[in-house]
Amino acid sequence: MTEIVLSKLGKVFGDFTALADMNMTIADGEFVALLGPSGCGKTTTMNMIAGMLRPSTGDILFDAKSIVNVPMARRGVGFVFQNYAIFTHLTVRENLAYGLKAAGVSAARRDRQVADMAEFLQLTALLDSPTAGLSVNILQRVAIGRSAVIQPAIFLLDEPLSNVDAAFRAVMRSELKTLQREFRQTMVYVTHDQLEAMTMADRLAVMDHGKLLQVGTPIDVYNNPVNAFVARFLGSPGMNILPARVQTEGGVRLDLGYVGASQPLSPETAAAVAGLPAVQLGFRPEQITPEADGPFAMGCVFVERIGARRIVHLEAGAITAKASFDHDTPVPDPGSVLRFSVEDADMRFFDGDGSALSPLPAREAA
Ligand SMILES: Nc1ncnc2c1ncn2[C@@H]1O[C@H](COP(=O)(O)OP(=O)(O)O)[C@@H](O)[C@H]1O
Ligand SMILES: [Mg+2]
Repeated sequence: MTEIVLSKLGKVFGDFTALADMNMTIADGEFVALLGPSGCGKTTTMNMIAGMLRPSTGDILFDAKSIVNVPMARRGVGFVFQNYAIFTHLTVRENLAYGLKAAGVSAARRDRQVADMAEFLQLTALLDSPTAGLSVNILQRVAIGRSAVIQPAIFLLDEPLSNVDAAFRAVMRSELKTLQREFRQTMVYVTHDQLEAMTMADRLAVMDHGKLLQVGTPIDVYNNPVNAFVARFLGSPGMNILPARVQTEGGVRLDLGYVGASQPLSPETAAAVAGLPAVQLGFRPEQITPEADGPFAMGCVFVERIGARRIVHLEAGAITAKASFDHDTPVPDPGSVLRFSVEDADMRFFDGDGSALSPLPAREAA
């Protein structure tokens, strides 16, 4: 139950910049996911919030007070590491009770809180088991419970589910969300898994190469990515991004000659692309509609079945794209040509370096 402010936060290791100029406010009780590929600086950021690492530049404020000189133990932070750190010589119960005992909570209250947390995480039957020999799935649950039971004002989780199996991960996604709602903690959750971030977080903070690229609600970042990297990183598969040439004769259009398409542009977008040497057109795989006389034509390479959806891999020369269809859309045969359309409102435009062109087309949140 604390607001966190990261102000011009940075970290260098020798001459390597792991994090630069990170500015962000995480509201009291908010669930924020730090999302980005491996090595982008997520753990470095978390370790500075937790107090395990000192910032090289900038400041961290909890409820408007700088805490960079406050030792970790006095920050009121619970931390779950990627590699669950539990005491293997203790039982599940002793692990869960550890922090409460250290904080001087009475035995009666301790027992009650441990019992509640064990029930919540479905560990009741295992309370008196030694932890040595328990599965990774259970150990990660114990690690989460051990940090959560002390009800820290700030709960930091660094890829807590990346070592557990897929079925259990799905269960834990909803359990962690419920846990956070129940205790109204300020939660910072690190993950490289966009699905995890999209399904759990109130807001995403997308990072790459030590930089914060975009902060917003999952739907907002998904619909209006600031650049081609974010566009491709979110979604499964990510956004299709096709190179295009700007054509100005007879109204401004995008020439996508290799897919047969010529896309007229709205006056706003035309003004934004005017004079640019290169433009890229983005649309999501699920925004492709097969249409016999659609403006786009791409060859179907192969079809991949993922649950109820079919992912169609498309190509035109060296350009590739993917379409995602639900089970009632007829899927083209490999070797055939798919003609399709994309609605104007679903199109996104990026410059040659991949930055989104503004103004972005208006779009209602789904
Ligand atoms: N103690 C350190 N010394 C030198 N480089 C480090 C250290 N810790 C992290 N790094 C580097 O900083 C970058 C970001 O690391 P990290 O924050 O762990 O990334 P992430 O958690 O996003 O995968 C990586 O390139 C990593 O190798
Ligand atoms: Mg990490």
